[in-house]
Amino acid sequence: MPAPDLDTIVSLCKRRGFIFPAAEIYGGFANTYDYGPLGVELKRNIRDAWWRAMTRERDDVVGLDASLLTNPRVWVASGHVANFTDPLVDCKKCQMRWRADHIAEGQYGDVKRDAAGNLVCPNDGGELTEPRQFNMMFKTQVGPVADDDAVAYLPPETAQGIFINFENVVNSMRRKLPFGIAQTRVSFRNEITPGKFVFRTLEFEQMEMEYFVAPPKDRANPVEYLALHRHWIDTRLAWYRDVLGIDPERLRVRDHEKEELSHYSAGTADIEYLFPWGWGELEGIAARTDFDLTSHGKASGHPITYFDEETKEHVVPWVIEPAAGLTRTLAVTMLEAYTEEPDEKGEKRVVLKFKPRIAPVKVAVLPLSKNEKLQPLARKVYEMVRPNWMTQYDETQSIGRRYRRQDEIGTPLCVTIDFQSVGEDGTPGDDAVTIRERDSQEQIRVPVSGLVDALRERLPGC
Ligand code: GAP
Repeated sequence: MPAPDLDTIVSLCKRRGFIFPAAEIYGGFANTYDYGPLGVELKRNIRDAWWRAMTRERDDVVGLDASLLTNPRVWVASGHVANFTDPLVDCKKCQMRWRADHIAEGQYGDVKRDAAGNLVCPNDGGELTEPRQFNMMFKTQVGPVADDDAVAYLPPETAQGIFINFENVVNSMRRKLPFGIAQTRVSFRNEITPGKFVFRTLEFEQMEMEYFVAPPKDRANPVEYLALHRHWIDTRLAWYRDVLGIDPERLRVRDHEKEELSHYSAGTADIEYLFPWGWGELEGIAARTDFDLTSHGKASGHPITYFDEETKEHVVPWVIEPAAGLTRTLAVTMLEAYTEEPDEKGEKRVVLKFKPRIAPVKVAVLPLSKNEKLQPLARKVYEMVRPNWMTQYDETQSIGRRYRRQDEIGTPLCVTIDFQSVGEDGTPGDDAVTIRERDSQEQIRVPVSGLVDALRERLPGC
């Protein structure tokens, strides 16, 4: 079962150290968040799972980490300076600013209109200004003089760093088409629309891959290219389902309508998730043709081509781009993992049912109590386990409450050390501990000597 609403997740994230509103002691900073000790682990695990699936488990994709700041001409050639805009309107009464397209889509609640049928302010029904195009890139300056020559942009996507390094990668890695270049990185967008938690933020992380293929023989009817586009849509859908454990019932593919497509695009599909407020984009998979390499080739005066050994021709490869949002995916993973169920006493048990590979903490070592007799073995177990997996040691409060705490942060396995383990009243200990499984709450006893193997068996892929 997914979380009943977003507020439940927002509150759990703060209470349990996943995500905090940024700069809270200064009254916050709209649409920005800080990732706490568990959030940073969860984010890293999702990013690693993506990296593993997109690069390490494939022969045809390599990685890149391009600089964030770059020559501003990159953003002119990519079309971002001219076209990366949102239509904004202001309310003439309350002065609130809105995205015109989001008002029309009903993203601020019921769509309201005046008697003449014009959209009105979602806040107070006031008259709206004509839409103005507002560029979403953040500008900064490089060097001490703030003139036009010093302008630089914070990247609104990771893709351009890949395109401008295409030749470097081909030459240094001796790559043959088809192949891909993957990158995960922070991106920035001056989003005006108030985001729903980390769904839409000013600063977010993306996981993007540009897959380069030989140009089709028939540009007007690129059958194989479009089939490969479909293949990537299926591959990425399967990743959300199998690796993150997202229920396929709450995933769908939405093909963009012709009028939504950029002029150069041969097709784009979004993988969408059924958020508590409705369907929303998780990842866009775009068939970008040869637009980017051609644009950078023209704008830089340095044509970007690939030499085809078979035909002995220089060609401009075509591209398929699966572009996912890491922070948005993290929110979905939290929503999906959240489960409420009755415990043995009929009380509510909250469990984050993360796949083990994704869970921020894999194992919790819990002595039954703070009794000092338990500590040497508990510490020994902790030292054995933690070189292998992210592990927590906790001895405060009752064991039942500590199990609940670990359930609520999604720890798949707890190891309990009790008096049977260490011996009591002259009876020798059995040098065994209990593994308690998060979802089934099943408990099994294993010898300390076999503990790491027993945990490994229960933590596949971790
Ligand atoms: N290079 C293509 C590109 O950037 P996009 O659809 O604009 O495509 C890809 O972005 C993904 O990045 C989106 O599907 C979404 O998951 C994520 N994303 C975009 N804007 C975001 C924002 N303001 N906050 C959080 N995630 C965002």
